Amino acid sequence: MIKGSKERSDVLNDLRRSKAKDISFNSGRIFGSMCTAPHPIALEAHTLFHESNLGNPGLCPGTVDLERDVISMLGGMLCLEPPYGRVLSGGTEANITAMYMAKKSTGRRKVVFSKNAHFSVLKAIKLLDLEPVEIALDDRYRMDTVQLREVIDDDVMLVHAVAGSTELGTVDDIETVSRTAHGTRLHVDAAFGGFVLPFLDPEHLRTHDVGAWDFRVGGLGTMTVDPHKMGLSTIPSGCIMYRNRDALDALKVESHYLTSPMSFTLAGTRGSGAVAATWAVMRHLGSQGYRRIVKECMDNTRYLGIRLKESGLERVVDPVMNVVAFHHSKPIMVDSMMRKQGYFISTVKDPPALRFVVMPHVTKEAIDRLVPVLNRVLERI
Ligand SMILES: Cc1ncc(COP(=O)(O)O)c(C=O)c1O
Repeated sequence: MIKGSKERSDVLNDLRRSKAKDISFNSGRIFGSMCTAPHPIALEAHTLFHESNLGNPGLCPGTVDLERDVISMLGGMLCLEPPYGRVLSGGTEANITAMYMAKKSTGRRKVVFSKNAHFSVLKAIKLLDLEPVEIALDDRYRMDTVQLREVIDDDVMLVHAVAGSTELGTVDDIETVSRTAHGTRLHVDAAFGGFVLPFLDPEHLRTHDVGAWDFRVGGLGTMTVDPHKMGLSTIPSGCIMYRNRDALDALKVESHYLTSPMSFTLAGTRGSGAVAATWAVMRHLGSQGYRRIVKECMDNTRYLGIRLKESGLERVVDPVMNVVAFHHSKPIMVDSMMRKQGYFISTVKDPPALRFVVMPHVTKEAIDRLVPVLNRVLERI
C-alpha cells in the first residue's frame, strides 16, 4: 500500500533532499560518465513534449515528424541515403534491436565481437539466446581483423564492431572489418562516437588512422548512435540507423487498440520528450556547434593528458576521442579512494587503467581541481 497523503510542499521538499544527494554534472566532479548535462534547449523541448507518447503515433503526429527529421539529420551525418532509423531509449536497446534484426533475417546464432564491445552486447546475447564469439584486440586496442578472418564462417549472423569504444574511445578499422567479414552482416556501435567522429578535425582522424567508419562502408547494415551522450540531448535517447528500409519489420506486431495498426519497436510507450529534445539541440547547434563542442572536449582531453603526465601517469593510447585512460596497477583502489574525496573517475579492467571521459562539463578548471586530489591519492598507494 502507498503511505498516507502528504502536502505538495512536503513532497517537493523530500524531492529536493533526494536531488541534493545525486551528483550533478555541474559539480565538476564527474569524470567517468558518457552522459552530460543536456543543452538548455533540449531541456525546454523535453518539457514541452512531456505528455506525448510516440508509441501511440496517431495521437502525436507532431512527434512523428520530429523523429523523421532527426533520422534525416542523422542520415546526413552518417552518410546514409535514404536515411532509415528510429529513436529508441539508448545504446542498449539499439544494440539489442540490431541483433534481433540480424537473427531474424539470417536464422543464425553466432555473434562475433571483440573485447572492446560494450556489455550491452552480452545482454543481447542472453536475451536472444545467441552464441558469443569473442575475439581479441590488436596492439592498438581495435578489433583484431586477423582473428576475425579465422572465425568468420557460414554460421555467423553478425559482426559487431565499435566506433568509439566505451573504455578507451578507440575506433575499429571498419573498412577492413567489412572486407574481412565479406558478406556477413555488420553492425557498428557508434553510441558514443556517432556524435564525435563526424565533428573531429579530418587531419586528426588521418593521423589516428581512422578511415570510413559509417555508412560510406558498403557492408555496414545497422548502426547505434546515442543523442543522450555527446549529442547533448536528454535521457533516454539512442538511435538505431539501418540501410534496408524494411529492417525493422523484424519486430513488427499488431497493435490494434492503438492509433497505429502496427508497433515496430521493443518499447511500447515511447516518450516524445527526448525525441523533441534531440531535434531541438541538433537544429540549434548544427554541425558548426557540435564541431566547437568536440574541439573543446579534445583540447581538454589533451590538457588532462599533459597534467597527468606531470603526475607520472602514462596514457594507454593516444586518444582518438575525448576518452583517455592511464596505466595503473590498482585502478579500483584509486577509484574508490577518489570517491571518498567526492570525485568520480572510472576504470579499465584490461589493461588495468584509470579512465576519464572528458565530456562538455569537464572544464580546464575542473581538471585543475581534480589533479591535486588525484596526486594525493596516488601518493598514498
Ligand atoms: C559503445 C557503447 N555502446 C552502447 C552503450 C550503452 O548505451 P546505454 O547506456 O545508452 O544503453 C554504451 C554506453 O556507454 C556505449 O559506450
